Amino acid sequence: MTSNYHPPTLSEFINEQQTAFPFAKGDLTRLLNHIGVASKLVNREVRAAGLVDILGKAGKSNIQGEDVMKLDEFANHKFIKVLSSSGEVCGIASEENHDIITFDKSFAKEGKYVVCIDPLDGSSNIDVNVSIGTIFSIYRRVTDPGTDPDERDILQPGNKQVAAGYVIYGSSTMLVYTTGLGVTGFTYDPSIGEFCLSHYKIDMPDDGNIYSVNEGYYRQFSPGIREYIDRCKGSDETGGDALSARYIGSLVADFHRNLMKGGIYMYPSTAQQPGGKLRLLYECNPIAFLAEQSGGLATDGKGRRIIDLVPEAIHQRTPFFAGSKKMVKEVEAMIRSYG
Ligand code: AHG
Ligand code: MN
Ligand code: MN
Repeated sequence: MTSNYHPPTLSEFINEQQTAFPFAKGDLTRLLNHIGVASKLVNREVRAAGLVDILGKAGKSNIQGEDVMKLDEFANHKFIKVLSSSGEVCGIASEENHDIITFDKSFAKEGKYVVCIDPLDGSSNIDVNVSIGTIFSIYRRVTDPGTDPDERDILQPGNKQVAAGYVIYGSSTMLVYTTGLGVTGFTYDPSIGEFCLSHYKIDMPDDGNIYSVNEGYYRQFSPGIREYIDRCKGSDETGGDALSARYIGSLVADFHRNLMKGGIYMYPSTAQQPGGKLRLLYECNPIAFLAEQSGGLATDGKGRRIIDLVPEAIHQRTPFFAGSKKMVKEVEAMIRSYG
C-alpha cells in the first residue's frame, strides 16, 4: 500500500516558514525558489554530462587564471538568466565574472537583494564524475532600489547575509540552506522534479573524526597546521586514536560530509597561496553561515570568525577552517601556540 504522505517541497516549506513573519512580502521566499529553479537546470545538465557535449574546458581562463570548464559557464549563465528575470535581485557577483553584474531591466533594478555565487564549485571534479556543487549567499542591498547596485552592496560582511546555501550534485542532489533559523536540507526527487524536505534542522556534531585538507601542500603549511595534521594521524605508533582523512576537492562535498558526520575542513594559506585559495564572498561566507547555524564554527585560523571579516574586493581570498566546533577551536589553539 502506498502512503499518501509526501514531504513538503522547497516552495511549500519556505512559504510555510514565511507565515512566521507576517510583514514579510515574500521576496526572499521567491528568490530562494528561483535559486531552486536554476539549480534544477544545472542538475539536469550535470546528470546528463557525458551524453551531452558539456564536459571539458571552455577554452579560456577566468579572472583568477583558472581554466573555465563548459559546465562552469553553463551554470553561471543559468543562474544569471534566472536571477536577472526573477525581479528580486538587482545584481550579482560571480566567481566567473570580474565585476559585479548589474541587471538592466527596470523591474530588476527594483530588486531588494544581491547574490554572491560560485555557480559551479569543484570544477576539477566535473570530468571525472565526482560530486560538485553550487554555493550562494544573499544580502539585502544597501543602495537605493531603482538604481544600479555597486560594491557597497556586494562588499558586506558575512554577518549581514540574510540567507545562504549550497546545492550538491552528489549521489543524490540536495539543496541545503539557512535564513538564520537553523539549517535545512532538501533532496531532489527526479520523479516529480522537486526538492523535498529531507533534513530538518541539521546539527553538526560538536566533535568529529574526519579531517579534510589537501595534504599535498603539507610542506607549505605553517608549523601549527602541520602539528595539527600530525596529531590527526594519532598520538602514537598504534594509531588507535587516528582520525580519518577525507578530501574530495569540492568544498561543497567536503563540507557537506563533515556537516552530517562531524569533522573539520581546512584550506590554510600555503607558500604558493599566502592569502589562502578559497574566496571569501561566494565560498567561505555562505559555508561559514551554514556552519554556525548548524552549531559549528568557521574562522580564518587567526581567531576571527569568517563572517566578521570586512571584504575589500569581490574575489578576495582567505584561509578557511570550518566544521565541528571543538575541532576548529583545537586547530586555532594549535596555530596560536606556534605564534
Ligand atoms: P572552484 O571549482 O569553484 O574554482 O573551487 C575549487 C575550490 C574548492 O571547491 C575546493 O575545495 C578547492 O578549490 C580545491 O583546491 P585544491 O585542488 O587546491 O585542493
Ligand atoms: Mn569553488
Ligand atoms: Mn566555481
